[in-house]
Amino acid sequence: MTQNPICSAVVAMAPDHTIGGGNQLLWHAPKDLQHFKKLTLNHAIIMGRKTFESIGRKLPRRHTIVVTSKPAWEVADVEIAAGIEAALAAGRRHAHQHGQQEFFVVGGGEIYRQAMAHIQRIHLTKVDVHVSGDTFFHWPSHEFVARVGRFEEANEANPNLHFVCLDRLNGLNGLPLAPMPTYITVEEAGA
Ligand SMILES: NC(=O)c1ccc[n+]([C@@H]2O[C@H](COP(=O)([O-])OP(=O)(O)OC[C@H]3O[C@@H](n4cnc5c(N)ncnc54)[C@H](OP(=O)(O)O)[C@@H]3O)[C@@H](O)[C@H]2O)c1
Repeated sequence: MTQNPICSAVVAMAPDHTIGGGNQLLWHAPKDLQHFKKLTLNHAIIMGRKTFESIGRKLPRRHTIVVTSKPAWEVADVEIAAGIEAALAAGRRHAHQHGQQEFFVVGGGEIYRQAMAHIQRIHLTKVDVHVSGDTFFHWPSHEFVARVGRFEEANEANPNLHFVCLDRLNGLNGLPLAPMPTYITVEEAGA
């Protein structure tokens, strides 16, 4: 089961592909944070140094791998990686050691971009807000297929949220590389 843990991105994105601005998230969506926590708890998460500093602390009960070129950068209980390949190897190793099927690339823009060739699954939250930011997320959409999705209507605390799981297609047979995800209720599909 843990032969090849799935390398997944987790990302929340506005309709124009914005994911952040001024080194911050640009919306308040606690339901998306709950979704993020449910996916990543007890797993390895890979993030860039700027995203780590934007969050401002290590997220509890996650094995955190921070990519930085600064050799002296250190935070207690955080694994440092000097490049994206080292970070992915660390995430994979953690998944193997803990018998887990998946590890997560959680941003920001630079890290998603560099990791994209290795990403097999994208847990995408489409956030229905209009914002002006400076950091964006793009993926080769023709190489991915939407497996399952779930729509959450806006309430007083959250904008409309559409959670979609996209899987990379195998270039040889055109089928998704990863098995069907089981942890999202199948209510709606479509990217
Ligand atoms: N909406 C979402 O789902 C989501 C998720 C995460 C983040 N974000 C947003 O994304 C923004 C931050 O993204 P970002 O692109 O500015 O920064 P980032 O990807 O979080 O971090 C960039 C940093 O990572 C390190 N790095 C990147 N590539 C490296 C490499 N090949 N080798 C060594 N170190 C490397 C560098 O750190 P050093 O400078 O220390 O070398 C670089 O400055 C924020 O606005 C944040 O809120 C949004």
